[in-house]
Order: sequence, then structure tokens, then C-alpha cells
Amino acid sequence: MATHANDIALAVIGGTGVYALASLINVHAHQPVTAYGAPSGPIRVGTLAGKRVAFLARHGEGHSLPPHKINYRANLLALRALGATRVLALNTVGGITDHFGPRVLACPDQLIDYTWGRVSTLSEESGSDVLHVDFGDPYTPSLRKDVIAAAIRANVLMVGHGCYGVTQGPRLETKAEIARMRRDGCDLVGMTGMPEAGLAREMGLEYASLAIVANWAAGCSARDDEEITMDEVLGNVAAASEGLPALLREMLAG
Ligand code: HPA
Repeated sequence: MATHANDIALAVIGGTGVYALASLINVHAHQPVTAYGAPSGPIRVGTLAGKRVAFLARHGEGHSLPPHKINYRANLLALRALGATRVLALNTVGGITDHFGPRVLACPDQLIDYTWGRVSTLSEESGSDVLHVDFGDPYTPSLRKDVIAAAIRANVLMVGHGCYGVTQGPRLETKAEIARMRRDGCDLVGMTGMPEAGLAREMGLEYASLAIVANWAAGCSARDDEEITMDEVLGNVAAASEGLPALLREMLAG
């Protein structure tokens, strides 16, 4: 794959409900294939606030890939090959604890990985280096700081911490599973936070998550009729994402 000058100020990975960045202009689509295969779809590189920004829809632009089938390694490697060094991952999640209700934006500082059976490391193939990267702080502190500062400047409300529990999916969780996650210390639940964050660390990428709360997780709503529907998820993601262009502009300007 051709490599480009290291000129991409930020790579954004969109999650459920965020399949494009409307504020990108002069967009060119790249269709790279990496040593790990093809990413989820085209990487759209364009300009935002005068800086070059790359966007990739994690589930594919038509949301055709469930969380456990995403080629996380190819996605990150393709972004890196295009020159990205900083990755902002948008993760659509459910809220577990009080401050993380629907439509909240959060920048988690911790995660717990409950996924299984996913290709989760660059050390997968025999003969590859065995990597024991430090992961005590799974998100890059300086990038988190920039996200939170940009949110403040853009007047976008954001919870600047939180523990993201990553489940296997694609089904949603039982109430008992969420109760256990709450006991474990999780504030948020989603299906795509890992292995992405771990792979980003292995690849030397700066990486932070901007979690978009779409619904109360199972058993956390005060409502009796609390079935979680895709309509509810997508409606809340759309509403919560309204401040995203302003936040990205501030991040890029800063
Ligand atoms: N659980 C897991 N993943 C999710 C949820 C949820 O409640 N909402 C959005 N993504």
C-alpha cells in the first residue's frame, strides 16, 4: 500500500449511527488493503478547520458488520498507513451509572474487556513479535485532555471520565450481566471498544474514545417498558452528535 506524508491531523472512527462526517470538505475516498486485509469500508480523507481528517465507518457505511466481525487490525493499520497518528473513536454505548444517561457524551478513562474470540493483537500470527504493551491507562491521556478541552471550548457537555465495559454482542446484555458490570465498576457498555483500543496501543497510535450514550443499559432505566430499540438508539445518537462538528473544529484548531 502506498504511504502518504504524515499529514492527517486526526482520524475519526464512526460507530453505530455515525456513518459519515458531513462537515468534511474536499473529500477523497481511499480503499486500502493492508497486511491484515481490507478495512470496514472506504477511508474518506478531507478537510475540516483547515486540517486533514480521515473518517472510517467501523461497521461499514451501510452498517453491515457486527462488532465481532470487524477487522479492527485492518482498520487501524489502514489509518496509520495513510499517515494518521491520532485516532478518535466514536463508540455508541448504553449507560449504566447515574451520570451516563441517554444523549450524554463521555470521554472514558478506563475499560474492562468482556469480549472473547476476537483477533485482539498483532502477536496473533506465529513468528510475530510478542507484545506486552503497557495498558494501565488504555486511552492516551494527552488526547483525552484535548477532547475534553475542545468540548469545553465548543460548549458541548461531556462527562470527562468513565469506565467502558466492552461486551461481545451483537445481542444486548441481560439485566444480570449489566448488574455484574455495575459491580465491576463499569459506567458504560458497548461492543466495539476492544480490541480496538489495545491494537491502537500496540500500533503506537494515540487513541481516545468519545462515547455517545444511546440508551439506558438493561435494567438501568426507571421506565417499566424499557425494551431497547434501534429507533431509540439511532434517535439519541443523532441528537447527541449535534455538537460533534463544533467539538472536532475546536480540537483541530487547538
Ligand atoms: N449495550 C451494548 N452496546 C450498546 C448498547 C447497550 O445497551 N447501546 C448501544 N450500544
